[in-house]
Amino acid sequence: MSQFAGFLGAAYPWVKAAHVTFVIFWVAGLFILPRFYVYHHETSPGSAEDRAWTEREDRVRTIILTPSMIIVWVLGLLLAFHLAAFGQHWLSAKLLFVVGLTGYQGWLGSYGRRLAAGHRPLDNKTLRIMNELPGVAAAIIVVLVIVKPF
Ligand code: HEM
Repeated sequence: MSQFAGFLGAAYPWVKAAHVTFVIFWVAGLFILPRFYVYHHETSPGSAEDRAWTEREDRVRTIILTPSMIIVWVLGLLLAFHLAAFGQHWLSAKLLFVVGLTGYQGWLGSYGRRLAAGHRPLDNKTLRIMNELPGVAAAIIVVLVIVKPF
């Protein structure tokens, strides 16, 4: 992969700026969607509010979450090729947490489908604890990429 080292040239900081911008959009979506689920939980299945929350949640997923996640991945991988960083421990650890966030988004999607079908599988307390996970993961990822502790 090292034949790609430096291939972005002067575009590197621009790609990095775009990467961080879409990271902000992605993480914003990951914070807001489970918060919507907490409100959605309080509606009765089949009610007008229930349907309104399902529609809002669908919009967050299709307009913010899915496109931002794809762009963050593509730009992040371009940065990693430019730096020839594959195999460096900070990147491997970062990727582990980013895969975790991607999986979390998959879980959010399946939870949203269950809510839309009238189920309320988790109690509010567990849902609120789940809400904290993307914040913790984002903080760890930022330390890994900026401090590069290993
Ligand atoms: C999706 C897979 C991702 C890959 C492959 C990736 C890879 C990279 C690489 C190689 C850099 C450049 C590091 C440098 O210039 O030293 C970078 C920068 C950065 N990434 Fe990611 N990243 C990804 C996702 C994320 C996520 C999810 C976050 C935050 C939650 C994040 C936050 C950042 C930040 C804040 C920077 C700028 C660091 C600096 O000041 O240089 N990245 N990323």
